[in-house]
Amino acid sequence: MTTTRKIAAVAFLALAASCLTLLAAAADPEAGGKVFKIQCSACHSVTEGKKGIGPSLFGVVGRKAGTVSDFHYSEANKGSGLNWDEATLDRYLVNPRAVVPGTTMPYAGLKNETQRADLIAYLATVK
Ligand code: HEC
Repeated sequence: MTTTRKIAAVAFLALAASCLTLLAAAADPEAGGKVFKIQCSACHSVTEGKKGIGPSLFGVVGRKAGTVSDFHYSEANKGSGLNWDEATLDRYLVNPRAVVPGTTMPYAGLKNETQRADLIAYLATVK
Protein backbone atom coordinates (compact mmCIF):
# COMPACT_ATOMS: atom_id res chain seq x y z
CA MET A 1 0.00 0.00 0.00
CA THR A 2 1.34 3.47 -0.80
CA THR A 3 1.59 6.04 1.95
CA THR A 4 -1.21 8.08 0.39
CA ARG A 5 -3.45 5.05 0.40
CA LYS A 6 -2.59 4.30 4.01
CA ILE A 7 -3.46 7.85 4.99
CA ALA A 8 -6.72 7.62 3.08
CA ALA A 9 -7.55 4.31 4.78
CA VAL A 10 -6.84 5.70 8.24
CA ALA A 11 -8.89 8.82 7.49
CA PHE A 12 -11.78 6.67 6.30
CA LEU A 13 -11.69 4.51 9.42
CA ALA A 14 -11.61 7.59 11.65
CA LEU A 15 -14.63 8.99 9.85
CA ALA A 16 -16.52 5.71 10.11
CA ALA A 17 -15.73 5.50 13.82
CA SER A 18 -17.01 9.00 14.49
CA CYS A 19 -20.23 8.21 12.59
CA LEU A 20 -20.76 5.18 14.81
CA THR A 21 -20.20 7.30 17.91
CA LEU A 22 -22.81 9.78 16.68
CA LEU A 23 -25.28 6.97 16.04
CA ALA A 24 -24.72 5.54 19.49
CA ALA A 25 -25.27 8.96 21.05
CA ALA A 26 -28.56 9.59 19.25
CA ALA A 27 -31.57 9.49 21.55
CA ASP A 28 -33.77 6.42 21.34
CA PRO A 29 -37.51 7.17 21.54
CA GLU A 30 -38.35 3.50 22.00
CA ALA A 31 -36.15 3.24 25.09
CA GLY A 32 -37.67 6.57 26.16
CA GLY A 33 -41.14 5.03 26.04
CA LYS A 34 -40.03 2.51 28.64
CA VAL A 35 -38.57 5.25 30.81
CA PHE A 36 -41.89 7.10 30.54
CA LYS A 37 -43.82 4.01 31.59
CA ILE A 38 -41.72 3.50 34.70
CA GLN A 39 -41.09 7.12 35.72
CA CYS A 40 -44.06 9.17 34.54
CA SER A 41 -47.12 7.10 33.58
CA ALA A 42 -48.39 6.77 37.15
CA CYS A 43 -49.30 10.47 36.93
CA HIS A 44 -49.29 11.41 33.24
CA SER A 45 -51.02 10.05 30.16
CA VAL A 46 -49.93 10.77 26.60
CA THR A 47 -53.55 10.71 25.43
CA GLU A 48 -54.94 14.10 24.46
CA GLY A 49 -57.24 15.48 27.16
CA LYS A 50 -56.74 12.57 29.56
CA LYS A 51 -55.49 13.94 32.84
CA GLY A 52 -54.24 12.03 35.84
CA ILE A 53 -52.49 13.40 38.90
CA GLY A 54 -50.60 15.44 36.32
CA PRO A 55 -51.72 16.98 33.02
CA SER A 56 -51.70 15.00 29.75
CA LEU A 57 -48.28 15.16 28.10
CA PHE A 58 -49.77 14.78 24.63
CA GLY A 59 -47.95 17.35 22.47
CA VAL A 60 -45.92 18.63 25.41
CA VAL A 61 -42.75 19.29 23.41
CA GLY A 62 -43.03 22.89 22.23
CA ARG A 63 -46.08 23.60 24.43
CA LYS A 64 -46.27 26.60 26.74
CA ALA A 65 -46.21 25.60 30.44
CA GLY A 66 -49.55 25.40 32.23
CA THR A 67 -51.82 25.42 29.19
CA VAL A 68 -53.82 22.16 29.33
CA SER A 69 -57.23 23.74 29.82
CA ASP A 70 -58.92 21.22 32.12
CA PHE A 71 -55.95 20.77 34.46
CA HIS A 72 -55.66 22.70 37.70
CA TYR A 73 -52.01 23.79 37.76
CA SER A 74 -50.09 25.38 40.59
CA GLU A 75 -49.50 29.11 40.21
CA ALA A 76 -45.79 28.23 40.05
CA ASN A 77 -46.17 26.11 36.93
CA LYS A 78 -48.78 28.31 35.31
CA GLY A 79 -46.83 31.50 35.89
CA SER A 80 -43.42 30.04 35.03
CA GLY A 81 -43.45 31.53 31.54
CA LEU A 82 -41.62 28.46 30.29
CA ASN A 83 -41.95 26.87 26.91
CA TRP A 84 -41.41 23.12 27.01
CA ASP A 85 -38.82 22.86 24.27
CA GLU A 86 -36.31 20.00 24.48
CA ALA A 87 -33.64 21.99 26.31
CA THR A 88 -36.10 23.30 28.92
CA LEU A 89 -37.58 19.84 29.49
CA ASP A 90 -34.07 18.50 29.95
CA ARG A 91 -33.29 21.09 32.65
CA TYR A 92 -36.70 20.60 34.27
CA LEU A 93 -36.61 16.82 34.40
CA VAL A 94 -33.24 16.71 36.20
CA ASN A 95 -34.73 18.66 39.07
CA PRO A 96 -38.29 20.00 38.60
CA ARG A 97 -38.31 22.04 41.78
CA ALA A 98 -35.15 23.90 40.82
CA VAL A 99 -36.65 25.07 37.51
CA VAL A 100 -40.22 25.61 38.77
CA PRO A 101 -39.89 26.44 42.47
CA GLY A 102 -43.19 25.64 44.17
CA THR A 103 -44.38 23.13 41.58
CA THR A 104 -46.78 20.51 42.87
CA MET A 105 -45.19 17.82 40.70
CA PRO A 106 -44.00 15.32 43.30
CA TYR A 107 -41.06 14.05 41.31
CA ALA A 108 -37.45 14.22 42.50
CA GLY A 109 -35.85 14.22 39.07
CA LEU A 110 -34.27 11.94 36.51
CA LYS A 111 -30.50 12.21 36.86
CA ASN A 112 -29.50 9.81 34.06
CA GLU A 113 -28.66 11.90 31.00
CA THR A 114 -29.21 9.12 28.45
CA GLN A 115 -32.57 8.22 29.94
CA ARG A 116 -33.60 11.88 29.88
CA ALA A 117 -32.58 12.26 26.23
CA ASP A 118 -34.47 9.07 25.31
CA LEU A 119 -37.52 10.18 27.30
CA ILE A 120 -37.61 13.60 25.60
CA ALA A 121 -37.20 11.95 22.18
CA TYR A 122 -40.21 9.78 23.08
CA LEU A 123 -42.27 12.77 24.25
CA ALA A 124 -41.55 14.47 20.92
CA THR A 125 -43.34 11.58 19.18
CA VAL A 126 -46.61 11.92 21.12
CA LYS A 127 -48.43 14.59 19.18
C1 HEC B 1 -46.30 11.57 41.26
C2 HEC B 1 -46.88 12.23 40.10
C3 HEC B 1 -45.99 12.69 38.97
C4 HEC B 1 -44.93 12.03 38.38
C5 HEC B 1 -44.34 10.68 38.73
C6 HEC B 1 -44.49 12.89 37.29
N1 HEC B 1 -45.25 14.03 37.24
FE1 HEC B 1 -45.07 15.53 35.89
N2 HEC B 1 -46.51 16.59 36.84
C7 HEC B 1 -47.23 16.15 37.94
C8 HEC B 1 -48.10 17.22 38.41
C9 HEC B 1 -49.06 17.17 39.58
C10 HEC B 1 -47.87 18.32 37.54
C11 HEC B 1 -48.48 19.72 37.64
C12 HEC B 1 -47.47 20.56 38.42
C13 HEC B 1 -47.92 21.96 38.79
O1 HEC B 1 -49.02 22.40 38.39
O2 HEC B 1 -47.14 22.61 39.50
C14 HEC B 1 -46.87 17.88 36.57
C15 HEC B 1 -46.38 18.67 35.54
C16 HEC B 1 -45.51 18.25 34.57
C17 HEC B 1 -45.09 19.02 33.44
C18 HEC B 1 -45.56 20.43 33.09
C19 HEC B 1 -46.73 20.27 32.12
C20 HEC B 1 -47.40 21.55 31.67
O3 HEC B 1 -48.42 21.42 30.94
O4 HEC B 1 -46.96 22.65 32.02
C21 HEC B 1 -44.26 18.24 32.69
C22 HEC B 1 -43.55 18.63 31.42
C23 HEC B 1 -44.13 16.99 33.38
N3 HEC B 1 -44.90 17.03 34.52
C24 HEC B 1 -43.39 15.93 32.93
C25 HEC B 1 -43.18 14.75 33.65
C26 HEC B 1 -42.34 13.67 33.19
C27 HEC B 1 -41.66 13.61 31.84
C28 HEC B 1 -42.34 12.75 34.20
C29 HEC B 1 -41.53 11.45 34.26
C30 HEC B 1 -40.10 11.63 34.24
C31 HEC B 1 -43.19 13.24 35.26
N4 HEC B 1 -43.69 14.46 34.89
C32 HEC B 1 -43.46 12.57 36.44
C33 HEC B 1 -47.15 14.91 38.52
C34 HEC B 1 -46.18 13.96 38.25
